[in-house]
Amino acid sequence: MSIRNILIHPDPRLKKITAPVAAFNDDLRRLADDMLETMYDAPGIGLAAPQIAVMSRMLVMDCEKEEGATPQPMVLLNPEIMWSSDETSIYDEGCLSIPDQYAEVERPASVKVKWTDLDGKEAQETFDGLWATCVQHEMDHLDGKLFIDYLKPLKRQMITRKMQKLKRELARG
Ligand code: NI
Repeated sequence: MSIRNILIHPDPRLKKITAPVAAFNDDLRRLADDMLETMYDAPGIGLAAPQIAVMSRMLVMDCEKEEGATPQPMVLLNPEIMWSSDETSIYDEGCLSIPDQYAEVERPASVKVKWTDLDGKEAQETFDGLWATCVQHEMDHLDGKLFIDYLKPLKRQMITRKMQKLKRELARG
């Protein structure tokens, strides 16, 4: 397993629509392991493949935040939302590609999602609470959408300028 480099916004690869996962093999398992390790190391509760420059419809998440609780890593391939609740909830969202920036985003409070697992089998589940927010945030990444795209243009531009500055600083080393 290895920790992958996480792309920082703005990056054209974070704005692209990704391609379906077609091959269910050991390379895919290794990629899933790397994504989980990268997410836990960050630390974060979700990571989508384009964030590590892999342009596939694949995400990992673990929203179990209880101290000492058993980790609940999930790997979702080609996820699709089957149903969204009318009820919404607001979370202060962040993103590993937009470090240290948080903003409130309103999304459906519950979503039913179907996806393919690492064995190529269909799975589905209804997510609530933080899991619902996280899976929607990560699925947005697969269509080139970031949580800041839900914000007013001025706030979005402010965050983008901060990230441009951060990237210049990182490039200087
Ligand atoms: Ni994100």
